[in-house]
Amino acid sequence: MVKKIIFSGIQPTGNLHIGNYLGAVKNWVELQNNGEYQCYFCIVDYHSLTGDMKAGERHDQIIRTAAELLAAGVDPEKSVFYVQSHVPEHTELAWVFNTVTPISELERMTQFKDKSERQTKNINAGLFTYPVLQAADILLYHANIVPVGVDQFQHVELTRDIARWFNKRYGDYFPEAKALLTEIPKVMSLLEPTKKMSKSLGAGHVIELADELTVIEKKLKKAVTASEGGAKAPGVENLLLLLKQFGEEKVYKQFVQAEKDCSIRYGDLKNEVSNAVGNYFVGFRTRRAELLIDHNQIADILARGAKRACEVARSTMEDVRRLVGIR
Ligand code: TRP
Repeated sequence: MVKKIIFSGIQPTGNLHIGNYLGAVKNWVELQNNGEYQCYFCIVDYHSLTGDMKAGERHDQIIRTAAELLAAGVDPEKSVFYVQSHVPEHTELAWVFNTVTPISELERMTQFKDKSERQTKNINAGLFTYPVLQAADILLYHANIVPVGVDQFQHVELTRDIARWFNKRYGDYFPEAKALLTEIPKVMSLLEPTKKMSKSLGAGHVIELADELTVIEKKLKKAVTASEGGAKAPGVENLLLLLKQFGEEKVYKQFVQAEKDCSIRYGDLKNEVSNAVGNYFVGFRTRRAELLIDHNQIADILARGAKRACEVARSTMEDVRRLVGIR
């Protein structure tokens, strides 16, 4: 049976938090274990160069991200798990794609506009062509399915367009990739619950998967709930969502009922959420700590992944060179 091919990528930016987990990683692991797909999971370090991270931090972040993904269940025996820059064909194909992509299409990308507003001192060309590199990531492996959050939907649509532009000019070669938008619960910041949980808001806004129970408790103590016991306050909804995702259904339902009849006690809710999240990631924290004892072992795993990825990537680039006439 020919398996469908899945590709997804994640930037090596800091420790994973529960928003990343529910938004991407949990889903990756489920797709991997489903058995119907050949999965490629890539740490996209070239993409991270478009941001402001310091060079001295990058390598460490890559190793840490790898350890966390492995601890969360990415299995290098089942999936091709590697670092983008270890497979130079990613940038090579991106260059070819740059030459079939109209500037006007890139100007429409909302993530580019958002990032240019946030990174006013560093609006580099890489930020602009970021989605072209993303298309190369996906199409190098002829991936059909791209599990991503809604914020990446436009990039996957562009990937489809790029495949079409290439095929029109050089012959039918690349498949059409489709985004797999999973029902992703949107986890909000603990301190500003109208904003999406994101590391860039600050450490107190996020719960990291690696946070010990005591840290989680401390962060939740400060979490915003409802100022005047208002129903459907975003902070309270967010805590209920976390309880639903990580706690027991019975307890979750009790709190939903309590919110309805206004008998809810936010202190109790916070305790339940702390325990639920803390317990859910106990195994994760142990595996992560074990993995991080030996960076060489992680490097070996990534090297093996890159070797497998390279075989496919090289063959795609041979075809591409022939098709565009630069063999
Ligand atoms: N842009 C993605 C993000 O920020 C990361 C990414 C890079 C990606 N290449 C990819 C996701 C290819 C899916 C497929 O989340």
